[in-house]
Amino acid sequence: MTVAELQRESPLQNPLEEGLRVRRKPDPCSLVIFGASGDLAHRKLMPALYALAFRNLLPERFAVVGVARSEASDAGYAEDMRKAVQEHARDEFREDVWERLAAGMRYVATDFADEAGFDRLAAVLNDLDGAQGIGGNRLCYLAVPPVAFPTIVDALGRRRSPDGWTRLIVEKPFGNDLESARELNTMLSEQFHEDEIFRIDHYLGKETVQNMLALRFANGIFEPIWNRQFIDHVQITVAESMGIEGRAGYYESSGAIRDIFQNHLLQLLALTAMEPPIDFTAESVRNEKVKVLRALHTPGPKSVVRGQYGRGHVEGEEVPAYREEHGVAPDSMTDTYVAAKLFVDNWRWADTPFYVRMGKRLARRETTIAIQFKRAPHPPFEETSAEGLRPNVLLVHVQPDEGVSLEIGAKVPGQGMTIRSVHMDFHYGGTFRTGMPEAYERLILDCMIGDQTLFTRADEIEEQWLLVDAIVAAWKRDKPSFPNYAAESWGPPSGHDLLRRDGRAWRSH
Ligand code: BG6
Repeated sequence: MTVAELQRESPLQNPLEEGLRVRRKPDPCSLVIFGASGDLAHRKLMPALYALAFRNLLPERFAVVGVARSEASDAGYAEDMRKAVQEHARDEFREDVWERLAAGMRYVATDFADEAGFDRLAAVLNDLDGAQGIGGNRLCYLAVPPVAFPTIVDALGRRRSPDGWTRLIVEKPFGNDLESARELNTMLSEQFHEDEIFRIDHYLGKETVQNMLALRFANGIFEPIWNRQFIDHVQITVAESMGIEGRAGYYESSGAIRDIFQNHLLQLLALTAMEPPIDFTAESVRNEKVKVLRALHTPGPKSVVRGQYGRGHVEGEEVPAYREEHGVAPDSMTDTYVAAKLFVDNWRWADTPFYVRMGKRLARRETTIAIQFKRAPHPPFEETSAEGLRPNVLLVHVQPDEGVSLEIGAKVPGQGMTIRSVHMDFHYGGTFRTGMPEAYERLILDCMIGDQTLFTRADEIEEQWLLVDAIVAAWKRDKPSFPNYAAESWGPPSGHDLLRRDGRAWRSH
């Protein structure tokens, strides 16, 4: 697409600001959403498609086909999706943009175990190929519980279009342990090649997470000091203030360790610790990430803390304890908080702790990566003049308040020499005039283009599970007394002790 075309066709003031210049337009395709009536489709997928349509980034010839159990007509489904967009999209609702997106929208009601339903779906897709010139390209989004994966994958594999490409987007949870993840990988590989499988970890679609790569590898100043010689330790926090939002059925068998640690958290760690890739291809980037995951040392029991929230107050309202949430067993031992001290056993990072924590119902929603550097070796000032000085920290604000800040020591104006810590800040909001794209926009588009860089490869997933399995196995040996932290606090005291024992502390809030 030329610059002139972009400016003419997009309703945005300045589409070039959105970094669109470098992206190529994807091939024509049909996007089939399995689980079309679910929460993900309403809250994330359809609003993401609308945002792409708004920026004129979808292929010229494009169709959405929703597949779910409930009965609905094409028009009824489109109407439902219109409401989802009106409620959840980040852009204003424009009839012309919506009409373009809804034009090719179809719906197939079927049970996933029903072969005849897949035949109907194949007929609809063939129909679209002919009517819209889509050429057989299919992007199949599995936004369904994992029990449904094998039936769908098998049915799709047997009905591939002889023309064009077929790609699968697989939502989490990708297995429940190493064994089930391996089975899933094997099952997928029976019908699809690895370069057709897109395992989603939506954190990788976040701008600030991708910016970690830009920060590290586009700036000459960081890489020489990005190692054990200069870095004292790293802290990664994925804190959420919300509870389980009615997802007890899933969360009871997952807990924070499988919900966040196994995927989002370990990916953030891998991006922070990886070696520079030789280029920015999916193969090179993922090769480097998987090396970090392999180098992760299994933490001993003293290096992992788990917690579960009790009652507390959120914005003045009392909220229930985890065990009081609807659908949760009253004696549930599910973890809603995990903190760990991890080590990456390689030359760059040996002996440098990576402290990580994540949890529900913590005091604030905050995802940050803090790189704490070693103190200056010999500050020549009197001790009292530097009392307010903390070690340098490079703080990546993944969300909210997206940006990066560097904490440095500066002289307080006035007589004498008093030094305290100040921040050099970069805020996305203030620097770029564009809003932040949602992760799903980027990821859906990448999948249409066939770029797997921001998707998790089979070996990465398996390494992630290997670590989680080892941690969970150790949990069988003890039974902490739950609940052990109040909602809207910063987790159990043992989470703080983890750092205190090493003479360190979590970054203050
Ligand atoms: C999902 C988890 O993967 O990520 C949820 O299943 C969690 O439990 C969510 O709330 C957090 O995503 P985000 O983008 O809001 O940080």
